[in-house]
Amino acid sequence: MKVLGIAGSPRLGETTEKLVSAVLSGCECETELISLCGDDIRPCKACLACVKTNVCIIKDDMAKLRDKIVEADAYVVGAANYYSVLNGLAHCFLERFYQFRHRDCKAVAGKLGVAVGVGGGTFEPVIENIRTFFQYNQIECIGSVGAQGAASCFTCGYGETCTVGAIHKFFGPGTKITEDMIPCLDKQQDTIDDARALGKALSDRLKRFAESA
Ligand SMILES: Cc1cc2nc3c(=O)[nH]c(=O)nc-3n(C[C@H](O)[C@H](O)[C@H](O)COP(=O)(O)O)c2cc1C
Repeated sequence: MKVLGIAGSPRLGETTEKLVSAVLSGCECETELISLCGDDIRPCKACLACVKTNVCIIKDDMAKLRDKIVEADAYVVGAANYYSVLNGLAHCFLERFYQFRHRDCKAVAGKLGVAVGVGGGTFEPVIENIRTFFQYNQIECIGSVGAQGAASCFTCGYGETCTVGAIHKFFGPGTKITEDMIPCLDKQQDTIDDARALGKALSDRLKRFAESA
């Protein structure tokens, strides 16, 4: 039994990756965490070359992830909120699951999933996006968890003066950025606990699957 965690944010080691990792830490089975940070994963080009083979022909980093996806029994997919949808890199990654959707392919259908969302303001749209993606691919979503991440405006250097960024929007003009106001997963203990419990529930379901097979 193996659970594959995918952190779809382009930022290495940030909130999305930490929250996916927290779900995996609750799993009582083998797990692997992959960050898509730095990966070249292009969008599906709808060439339909995968229809006959269930293998995508685009030569990029998705190819190296294909075996891991096929071999895993469950997925913990995490992404960040960019403009009220999941971030583009995560979207490209999920689009490329199109290769698994043809001719009764069972590579991902029937497996289990957990949706993980992160947002500077809200994470709900991302969770909804991932849930919908699971549904299209016949992956059963057993639950979701979301956290508040830090908007780049806290650390970009212009946050206090920029009139269109998150600091003015959430705290108002004239706000001084202090360490304690920067959102961070370590400050969201209930969320970490929820994530671990979800991981445990996921591996429990996998165990029951295995026992009844
Ligand atoms: C291009 C871009 C667009 C964003 N749009 C939103 C948004 O619409 N709503 C929101 O809540 N946060 C938004 N954010 C903030 C991110 O969701 C936040 O920084 C989050 O922590 C990113 O996840 P990470 O820390 O795992 O990289 C945006 C960030 C970027 C870079």
